[in-house]
Amino acid sequence: MRIRPIEDGDVEAVLALWEACGLTRPWNPPRADIDRARGRPNSEVLVLEADGRLLGTVMVGEDGHRGWIYYLAVDPGARGQGLGRALVAAAEDWVRARGIRKIELMVRRANAAVIGFYEALGWREEPVTVLSRWLDGTTPPS
Ligand SMILES: CC(C)(COP(=O)(O)OP(=O)(O)OC[C@H]1O[C@@H](n2cnc3c(N)ncnc32)[C@H](O)[C@@H]1OP(=O)(O)O)[C@@H](O)C(=O)NCCC(=O)NCCS
Repeated sequence: MRIRPIEDGDVEAVLALWEACGLTRPWNPPRADIDRARGRPNSEVLVLEADGRLLGTVMVGEDGHRGWIYYLAVDPGARGQGLGRALVAAAEDWVRARGIRKIELMVRRANAAVIGFYEALGWREEPVTVLSRWLDGTTPPS
């Protein structure tokens, strides 16, 4: 099992995995999200491969204050074996290596069942509400 930065040949498999995991939304074109994040000084898309198969991903970044995780995904057929834990640890290491002390993520309300996973890894829910505004006129359904 190996976790490494995404390469060109991984992109289609990553897009298919995100689709299979229900992580894509029409207002966030995932290919553009990969292009914007991969291989930058302050962001990366990490992939987990085992036996030549791409089984997981996590997008990680830091904004100068906090680290952030997006697109954490494990192939539905490979869950429950510690791969999600390994991906989160890799993202935490990536952020820690850049001198950032705290890492955060957002969970969609419809996906609240995943909070138990993060709690099992030592994360805790914060008493904050996230507000946002699209700067290009996009109006996604609320
Ligand atoms: C969330 C996800 C990445 C977990 O991957 P996974 O490989 O199955 O997780 P792991 O096997 O590493 O589990 C790590 C620990 O969390 C626990 N766990 C996993 N899912 C859990 C849940 N829903 N509730 C409570 N605990 C959970 C496991 O039992 C394990 O505990 P242990 O190490 O003490 O046995 C995977 O379910 C997934 O891809 N889900 C769909 C995409 C998604 O929701 N991503 C997150 C968006 S915020």
